[in-house]
Amino acid sequence: MKKLNAGLIGYKFMGRAHSNAYRQVNHFFNADAYIVPRALCGRNQTAVRAAAEKFGFETYDTDWKSFIKRDDIDFVDITSPSNMHMEMALMAADEKKHIFCEKPLAMTAKDAKTMWKSAKSAGIVHQVGFNYRFVPAIRLAKRLIDEGKLGSIYHFRGLYLQDWIVDPNFPLVWRLDKNVAGSGAHGDINAHIIDLARFLIGDFKKVMGMKKTFIKRRPIVESMDGLSASGISSGNMGDVTVDDASIFMAEFKSGAVGTFEATRFATGRRNGMSFEINGSKGSVKFEFERMNELQYYNASDPSYQQGFKLISATESEHEFAGAWWPPGHIIGYEHTFVHEMYSFVQAICSGLKANPDFEDGYICCKILDAVDNSIKEGGWIDV
Ligand SMILES: NC(=O)c1ccc[n+]([C@@H]2O[C@H](COP(=O)([O-])OP(=O)(O)OC[C@H]3O[C@@H](n4cnc5c(N)ncnc54)[C@H](O)[C@@H]3O)[C@@H](O)[C@H]2O)c1
Repeated sequence: MKKLNAGLIGYKFMGRAHSNAYRQVNHFFNADAYIVPRALCGRNQTAVRAAAEKFGFETYDTDWKSFIKRDDIDFVDITSPSNMHMEMALMAADEKKHIFCEKPLAMTAKDAKTMWKSAKSAGIVHQVGFNYRFVPAIRLAKRLIDEGKLGSIYHFRGLYLQDWIVDPNFPLVWRLDKNVAGSGAHGDINAHIIDLARFLIGDFKKVMGMKKTFIKRRPIVESMDGLSASGISSGNMGDVTVDDASIFMAEFKSGAVGTFEATRFATGRRNGMSFEINGSKGSVKFEFERMNELQYYNASDPSYQQGFKLISATESEHEFAGAWWPPGHIIGYEHTFVHEMYSFVQAICSGLKANPDFEDGYICCKILDAVDNSIKEGGWIDV
């Protein structure tokens, strides 16, 4: 069978999720190629060597520029923080390597557009890491909407609620630095519910938002470790330069209206991503922390039977679910990465467009930027 040699940049949160997915794809799906964990890239030699051993990579590197030029890798998988995505992706496209890049695709819509255009003209396959599109229960929501079961859509209500920085002494990790992350809750987690809204109900027309930073200064740490921030404090304080919460309203081209709330200050909510969609014939509701389930309300049920029913999206007819276990044997977060990696492999092998691709990543950045502009200008902004 065909082999695809992976060159993965980054080995922490997303690096672990992606490299785990490489191993699982062919175990459960009949993909047209299998992924070889060929080379891993990070900045610290000791740490990247240890990660390469642990994750089963054949080799490792500490310089991403020479790494991308290696002729023994077929695709570059970018899981570094957002400020590095563009430079890395542009070089990979120049080298005609296929690219998988984490979200948000770039720091600005302008950069994201440059990435999309250059990947497109290089003729490579490009995919962006909106992994929630690959949850079987969310695919079921899409199927019900596409089949017209919800009728005309009136409302999209999206929430992405976390609480990992509620403690004011939580240190100044890279996600709180605008120069590295681009934005806070906005680009990190609003990006996911924006993409889901587009995936499920279509394109945005206009937006109006607000953002808030509750804790403006935090302890500086000498080293950090993604969301867990295990670094040692230097004793100094530094400025938080991103939003802690980002909330906006939207109108869709279809005429539907939406509300979006992303926050890292929803005390008690760890990864509370949820949405509800209401249409003329029914509604659906999804909550990530119960990701195998979709709630569906059918307005044509006789009134004495009406109510939301809970569907366990674990049957073989549920997209991606059938590849795993018998019905009712539930799947989890890591499976979303296996599904997206399977999709990426199939796009490379078939030469067809990946979905979601850099154009989707760019449109998401355009919506994020439009919300920022609406805050600056104090009114509605067309997307
Ligand atoms: N799809 C999702 O649900 C999801 C979840 C978390 C993060 N992300 C995205 O993934 C990206 C990474 O986030 P994370 O949580 O994995 O971060 P992280 O801090 O856990 O890991 C970042 C990795 O990038 C490496 N890195 C940083 N700069 C580098 C450089 N110059 N050269 C080589 N390696 C470098 C670090 O060594 C580390 O291994 C971000 O864009 C983030 O928005 C997506």
